[in-house]
Amino acid sequence: MFSEVVIFGQGYVGLPLAIAIAKSNIKVLGIDSDIRRIDQIKNGISPIEDLDSDELNRVLESGFFNVSENDYFHISTNVICICVPTPLTKFGTPDLSALESATISAGKNLRPGMLVIIESTIQPGTTRNFILPILEKYSGLVSGDFFLAFSPERVDPINKIWGLKNTPKLVAGLTVDAAN
Ligand SMILES: NC(=O)c1ccc[n+]([C@@H]2O[C@H](COP(=O)([O-])OP(=O)(O)OC[C@H]3O[C@@H](n4cnc5c(N)ncnc54)[C@H](O)[C@@H]3O)[C@@H](O)[C@H]2O)c1
Repeated sequence: MFSEVVIFGQGYVGLPLAIAIAKSNIKVLGIDSDIRRIDQIKNGISPIEDLDSDELNRVLESGFFNVSENDYFHISTNVICICVPTPLTKFGTPDLSALESATISAGKNLRPGMLVIIESTIQPGTTRNFILPILEKYSGLVSGDFFLAFSPERVDPINKIWGLKNTPKLVAGLTVDAAN
């Protein structure tokens, strides 16, 4: 499927984002490492309270949204969002393993001109010192060939007043071009 946006992680953050993008008539591919979640979404059963299954089915039928466990991106992709879990370890330090694996996949598929947006919760310095080196290593590109931004998600699941469209959000680019 042609997809202009690819979103890693189809949970509380990534799935509503994918639905909102698809409803704007932009083709989006949601990638998740949990095959049961992918099957559930493909079958039109919403795995999260925030998203009604009827709405999910309507968006699936629109042809603007697809999901996969496979991290192959189509040539048409120009934006990658990373919305994977970043829990704390038993020692209270960030567990970046899911972020690392999604970033490696993104790096392998990165082409000049693409924008990568990190939406997962991470500590200061992680975009510059952890994400960027992985993207550069696996793509063979350098910052400037592609764009990297951090925009932490602020979603408050099942809040009926504040949602994806009306919650103010911070956007920080590694470079001015990436922020713009
Ligand atoms: N849920 C919230 O209220 C909320 C609010 C603000 C920020 N955040 C942050 O957003 C991030 C995502 O949280 P969430 O609540 O959506 O998590 P979630 O557990 O609901 O969903 C994450 C999804 O990512 C998938 N995943 C894990 N590793 C993957 C990989 N390598 N590639 C592709 N998919 C992978 C999981 O299978 C899961 O379906 C976290 O950093 C979290 O701290 C969450």
